[in-house]
Amino acid sequence: MITKICFLVFVAVLGSAPRAEACVANAVLNLRIHVGGNLTWTVNPNEPCTIDYFKVEAQGDRQDDYVVNVRDHYVDLSFLKTCEQWKFHVTPVSEGVLGHETRIIDWIPIPSNADLTLEYFNVTVRKKNDVLLKWDLRNHTHGDCTLEYRVAIVDRDTSKTRDVYLTGKSAHIDFLSPCVPYRLTMRAVNTAIGGIEGPLAVRNLEIPAYPEDPPELRNIQIYANRISMSWRLENYLLNRCPIINFYVDGGNAFNISVPVMDPEGRPPVHVNVTGLQPSTIYSFKVYVENSAGVSTAVPMAVQTATLG
Ligand SMILES: *[C@@H]1O[C@H](CO)[C@@H](O)[C@H](O)[C@H]1NC(C)=O
Ligand SMILES: *[C@@H]1O[C@H](CO)[C@@H](O)[C@H](O)[C@H]1NC(C)=O
Ligand SMILES: *[C@@H]1O[C@H](CO)[C@@H](O)[C@H](O)[C@H]1NC(C)=O
Ligand SMILES: *[C@@H]1O[C@H](CO)[C@@H](O)[C@H](O)[C@H]1NC(C)=O
Ligand SMILES: *[C@@H]1O[C@H](CO)[C@@H](O)[C@H](O)[C@H]1NC(C)=O
Repeated sequence: MITKICFLVFVAVLGSAPRAEACVANAVLNLRIHVGGNLTWTVNPNEPCTIDYFKVEAQGDRQDDYVVNVRDHYVDLSFLKTCEQWKFHVTPVSEGVLGHETRIIDWIPIPSNADLTLEYFNVTVRKKNDVLLKWDLRNHTHGDCTLEYRVAIVDRDTSKTRDVYLTGKSAHIDFLSPCVPYRLTMRAVNTAIGGIEGPLAVRNLEIPAYPEDPPELRNIQIYANRISMSWRLENYLLNRCPIINFYVDGGNAFNISVPVMDPEGRPPVHVNVTGLQPSTIYSFKVYVENSAGVSTAVPMAVQTATLG
């Protein structure tokens, strides 16, 4: 048997005389910081509370704080430092009651009249496909938070141009080829205001000639009296120093040189070694010569097929 006992408890709440409920305003919308330091926001059109003022707080990342109460839907914070990270809080206040807070973290963009002149733009060849760019602004008053540096690289032989966008103060460029005359131009661009551009700095550059990387064997066919091979050469885009000859050097047995026309795109080199003995091991080395000299040699050892 189960006995159910129910207790019904009535609790009488006796409060003080009823009072108008406090109106807690909703968070503001579209909080934004603009160039020039104007912080703006909007209020929901259906906001039920009557907002008396907004409490605006700016907290910097260097322990610098600023608090102000305003009636407008914006406040001029142009005196805050540009390019410092700020936390902006806006809280509507209605009859002394704080509403919901809105917060953004942002920096004040660089103004349109900032000096974007470059103090220097240095270009140094470090290796075959490694060019180091170094640069800096002349005036650091505003920092560089909304800056980008546009480098236009012009191949002066073909007039082909390639743009790269950089930030910071240095960068390595790894796609330039030896033996090509280039012109590099750099300018700072303030991206905060639709891309205001600073003055151009120009440098000419030519990476000195470098020998080719060793060729790579793509295909080999071995017969009793000959060997047929095709070899891939280094990517044309990474080393445009003109190729002169391709060598298959078998010492006393054979010594073949194949003149290379080196068209754009640089197709593989095909070569036949003929007049060989069957069932014989041949050692040879393969290398390629360009305007800078010969590449490292690739050693090969091949046994020809038996007759029949
Ligand atoms: C800030 O923005 C508000 C709203 O768009 C505008 O009325 C006010 O003039 C602006 N203040 C400044 C200093 O630009
Ligand atoms: C840039 O080049 C100039 C002139 O060669 C030199 O005086 C300066 O030290 C260089 N700056 C940097 C950061 O390498
Ligand atoms: C740097 O820019 C600021 C603001 O634009 C300016 O007041 C200052 O005089 C400039 N400094 C130099 C050394 O040009
Ligand atoms: C093969 O020919 C190349 C170029 O003509 C030459 O430099 C090399 O010494 C020759 N090799 C031998 C073993 O004679
Ligand atoms: C190599 O030999 C084959 C067969 O004789 C021939 O078809 C081919 O054209 C030759 N290639 C070269 C580069 O001489």
